[in-house]
Amino acid sequence: MIWSEDDIEKAREHFWAFVYIVWKSIDLPQPTPIQIDIANYLQKPPADRIIIEGFRGVAKSFLTCAYVVWRLWKDRQLKILIVSASGDRADANARFIKRIIQTLPFLSDMIADKGQLDTQNIFDVGGVVPDISPSVKSIGITGQITGTRADILIADDKLLCRL
Ligand SMILES: Nc1ncnc2c1ncn2[C@@H]1O[C@H](COP(=O)(O)OP(=O)(O)O)[C@@H](O)[C@H]1O
Ligand SMILES: [Mg+2]
Repeated sequence: MIWSEDDIEKAREHFWAFVYIVWKSIDLPQPTPIQIDIANYLQKPPADRIIIEGFRGVAKSFLTCAYVVWRLWKDRQLKILIVSASGDRADANARFIKRIIQTLPFLSDMIADKGQLDTQNIFDVGGVVPDISPSVKSIGITGQITGTRADILIADDKLLCRL
């Protein structure tokens, strides 16, 4: 799919417009009003720590993965850690993030170059300055997170800690 300069500029400015393009590119119907609402909440959070609650399948995980790509698109040096409720979820989130990057033609410079870190769940994006921390690290709750630094931390689903 070819997107106009206007579409791309709008998507850079408004996360909901980016979501619109992602959904269209992967053959989903248009984002629903709730999804647009969540997108706007993610772009303009009322605090530096937020929680999104919504029914299963509303696309909390999908939207958050799209948000990861959108933030990295605008700032290539960001480091993002996604901790998911299980290893499978961590895999699915990483896969979806990569799929978005590979699918949108105007994100082609975000595809990791040969020689860059590019494993399934831990990868860099194109254009990043070499660093100890990867651009994206997506792990399950029992995975290794000690020593990981990140600018944005995403906890995907039911990460309750009982003390
Ligand atoms: N507008 C839409 N219409 C129909 N299906 C959608 C739409 N947006 C997302 N989906 C589908 O809904 C699912 C959302 O899943 P997910 O992000 O895991 O939800 P949650 O994390 O909120 O439980 C995905 O399978 C996606 O393909
Ligand atoms: Mg989810």
